[in-house]
Amino acid sequence: MALLRVEDLSIRFGGLAALAEVSFEAAEGEILGLIGPNGAGKSTVFNVLSGLYRPDSGRVTFAGESLLELAPHAIARRGIGRTFQNTEVFRPLSVLDNVLVGLHSRLRAGLFGAALWAPRVAREERAARERALALLERLGLADVAGLEAGGLPLGRQKRLEMARALAAEPRCLLLDEPAGGLNPTETRALMDFIVRLRDELRLTLIVVEHDMDLVMGISDRVVVLHYGRKIAEGQPREVATDPAVIEAYLGSAEDA
Ligand SMILES: Nc1ncnc2c1ncn2[C@@H]1O[C@H](COP(=O)(O)OP(=O)(O)OP(=O)(O)O)[C@@H](O)[C@H]1O
Ligand SMILES: [Mg+2]
Repeated sequence: MALLRVEDLSIRFGGLAALAEVSFEAAEGEILGLIGPNGAGKSTVFNVLSGLYRPDSGRVTFAGESLLELAPHAIARRGIGRTFQNTEVFRPLSVLDNVLVGLHSRLRAGLFGAALWAPRVAREERAARERALALLERLGLADVAGLEAGGLPLGRQKRLEMARALAAEPRCLLLDEPAGGLNPTETRALMDFIVRLRDELRLTLIVVEHDMDLVMGISDRVVVLHYGRKIAEGQPREVATDPAVIEAYLGSAEDA
């Protein structure tokens, strides 16, 4: 059964149809690749799913509940996490504090309650720190926990953004170009990590990525957008040999 269902999603920016009647589903535990040339509408899909953009028409349901009426924080609480194409860590905060911010979106007391330092809050804080450190360990960032996030190389900032998103314990994680700026070794490690998230945590992942080896290598299914429309959908192998997809990528290479 579909965990996430997107139906007939359309959104315009002035005269531009950024998404036109886009429909797709993601099943629980599935890795869905979302690809397409620059400007195809991939990040726009994520911005609608996370409540940052309100579509002109269409429906989005997550675990059977409509998301379109919900604010971004409410959507996050329902279990949809994300990272951004332009990595958005809190640069002046330490690596550990970046993850704690993600955790606090989940804790009852919250950041301001923590200032009161009631015993229960202190206990929650300790548990939160331990969880945050465990996540950093998992992402190979434990050695830089105390450093300023803005000083990390891009590859590590990207992993930190994933750690922060995971801290909120999402059921579904949207990754916008997670391999952007990574070297081949880092990209390989990232692929393994994404697959492990699915296998070990049963996360549902939607991965936007221009690195075709990565996206075709890990995705169960792939959805292809072009000028805001879905032009193909299927197994990686089918999609990679689909004439409409090849045409879309060749055409956009000629434009560039
Ligand atoms: N807030 C906005 N205001 C105006 N136009 C926008 C806005 N957001 C996106 N667009 C436009 O919508 C289209 C789709 O953009 P989007 O960022 O979703 O593409 P993308 O597939 O993520 O591309 P890329 O691979 O380059 O990241 C583009 O033409 C973009 O300029
Ligand atoms: Mg984008």
